[in-house]
Amino acid sequence: MYSPATTRYDSPDFYRRCGRSGVRLPLISLGLWHNFGANDSYANARAIACRAFDLGITCFDLANNYGPPDGSAEETFGKILRDDLGAWRDEMIITTKAGYYMWPGPYGEWGSRKYLLSSLDQSLKRLGIPYVDIFYSHRLDPETPLEETMGALAHAVRSGKALYAGLSNYPPAETARAAKILRELGTPCLIHQPRYSMLDRWVEPQLLATLAEQGIGATVFSPLAKGVLTDRYFKGIPADSRASRDTRFLRPEHITDEVLLKTKKLNDLAHSRGQTLAQMALAWVLRHPVVTSALIGASKVQQVDDCVGAVKNLHFAAEELERIESILANKP
Ligand SMILES: NC(=O)c1ccc[n+]([C@@H]2O[C@H](COP(=O)([O-])OP(=O)(O)OC[C@H]3O[C@@H](n4cnc5c(N)ncnc54)[C@H](OP(=O)(O)O)[C@@H]3O)[C@@H](O)[C@H]2O)c1
Repeated sequence: MYSPATTRYDSPDFYRRCGRSGVRLPLISLGLWHNFGANDSYANARAIACRAFDLGITCFDLANNYGPPDGSAEETFGKILRDDLGAWRDEMIITTKAGYYMWPGPYGEWGSRKYLLSSLDQSLKRLGIPYVDIFYSHRLDPETPLEETMGALAHAVRSGKALYAGLSNYPPAETARAAKILRELGTPCLIHQPRYSMLDRWVEPQLLATLAEQGIGATVFSPLAKGVLTDRYFKGIPADSRASRDTRFLRPEHITDEVLLKTKKLNDLAHSRGQTLAQMALAWVLRHPVVTSALIGASKVQQVDDCVGAVKNLHFAAEELERIESILANKP
């Protein structure tokens, strides 16, 4: 029987307020996009989730389509809740999303009220819980009025099936419009979930500025660029790595010599700061005050330990930030 570490809340600085809200999130959140599907080891998934909780990670991020197959990550987490973590449900922020393809026909993806609310019901069933903490619109639907999509999020909150509404992958202007609609509906947008890492900076500067203006927090996904911003690929493509095991979103050809040249230089800088490259990459996204949480994935328990270690050094000297810019710009 699992019993959580009594030390899990020993570091109050591990939590940051999410925008202008009452919610504080851990600096590191755990995402279940990979390694929690039906074909992954349940024992490993359980060990990762429990270790995360022991380290003070209270936020577990899901979506309807995480697996594979779609939906199976929610089933896995539902089992982990039943077997181990469920007694601590009130200490957790459990999230899910709808937006990408889930089922055939006209109501199985995008942003209609019909799809979002049906999908949320399915997610709750798979998770085996009566509500999620955050329900996200996973992507902007250019063909559905924003009022309808936001109305569905607001309904989810008012019906008690979600505590807060969130947006993911929305561009800046639509984020501001969506936030206004949600405010008018009385269910303000808590959080935005965009991709952000040293290798992918599309959120700078406009989206981050919009979030600051709107009082919305950010939980940024793939802060390690799916594992590229770690030492994982320095000696080739390991058989147990994402680029080898699951090539849907990261393929060996993405790990180019140019990328490796940069990541090896960044690794040297990280070591000079007393960090691993993964830790420096996480500290770097967290340097921005709008970023509430860095949303990582992990295939091993030790990776969670390593990532949480990032918070021991979140400070960057101006010269270190300049050095990072030069490396990223391919300057000598
Ligand atoms: N909203 C959206 O549209 C969206 C899209 C994508 C992701 N997300 C969310 O963001 C979460 C994180 O995404 P991600 O998995 O791409 O994030 P990531 O943290 O950039 O990459 C995670 C991968 O990096 C490697 N890794 C992690 N820690 C490491 C360490 N300390 N040392 C060496 N390697 C390490 C592991 O790769 P190996 O497997 O190779 O060991 C791990 O699977 C997802 O689970 C999901 O919840 C959201």
